[in-house]
Amino acid sequence: MTAPRRKILIDTDTASDDAVALIMALRSPLVEVAAITVVAGNVDVQQATLNALYTVELCGSEVPVYTGAATPLLRTLETAQWFHGRDGLGDHGYVPHRRTAEPTHAVDAIIATIDANPGIEVITLGPLTNLALALKREPSIVKNIARCVVMGGAPCCEGNVTPAAEFNIWVDPEAARIVFRSGLAIEMIGWQLCRYEAALNPLEIAEVLALNNPIAEFAIHCNSTGAAAYKIQTGEEGISLPDPIAMAVLLDPALNVDSSRHFVEIETASEITRGMTVVDRLNVTGDGRNGAVWAETRAQAVPSEVCWKIDVPGWKKLLMESLR
Ligand code: BDR
Ligand code: CA
Repeated sequence: MTAPRRKILIDTDTASDDAVALIMALRSPLVEVAAITVVAGNVDVQQATLNALYTVELCGSEVPVYTGAATPLLRTLETAQWFHGRDGLGDHGYVPHRRTAEPTHAVDAIIATIDANPGIEVITLGPLTNLALALKREPSIVKNIARCVVMGGAPCCEGNVTPAAEFNIWVDPEAARIVFRSGLAIEMIGWQLCRYEAALNPLEIAEVLALNNPIAEFAIHCNSTGAAAYKIQTGEEGISLPDPIAMAVLLDPALNVDSSRHFVEIETASEITRGMTVVDRLNVTGDGRNGAVWAETRAQAVPSEVCWKIDVPGWKKLLMESLR
């Protein structure tokens, strides 16, 4: 007997790597996507919604797509069009022809979907604004979320926006703080996991294109500006895919081959370290000397599972399977 598909909810600021993560989930035999909720981040929320709709259409999926927060909780939206292109999908003119967004706001949809599916798994691929708003409005949803995989953070302190911070957390640090303090069982997939051999190299890109189907082609072409920007930023050749790596770990937890549980706090006050994910790796906040500053965090949060290493061949195998 085959196991029933696990229910998942995806929150996304849909641009190029998000789109590949959506494809992986929509084509996986392991999960059923109950809802896709969209948040502002890489691009504005309307564009991100169009990008999500285009991707679900391409996959032939009828999953409902909901538009959510247009701005971070307290700050002006800063997008990543310099990386993903003006339209977030490499500026190739991808537009949805059939699907439209549901009339319900994403925050309401998150609460309703979780209430209707106790034990659901949630994955966030963008700034945490939608989820923070849902948790503020209905804190009781925490008990019905079995896992919360967060693509975000730079636990090794090598950010892609500032030296200290990764984009998703940096865009809306106040929201991230709410989510990390909410009591959710967070699995943190930091940006460092998508670099070096985890990125698709030119040979692997050619292998995907050789699959010779519209989904595989889209997965590569929508990442064209991302690949160029990644080369400028890191000097590395290839396509780095943070959101698909987080999705791979959601689909197959065994791909997380090294992780440990720690309290994580988000910097919201400093200019230099805005959005830094501060990981208490040595549990020094249990020490009296640090007690006062971390008291609220330790009282409210549960430690997050911070991933340090993934099974790289395993993640690439899963990606290839979903693009066939
Ligand atoms: C994250 O930021 C976005 O640009 C990507 O879609 C990913 O979610 C990586 O820092
Ligand atoms: Ca994203």
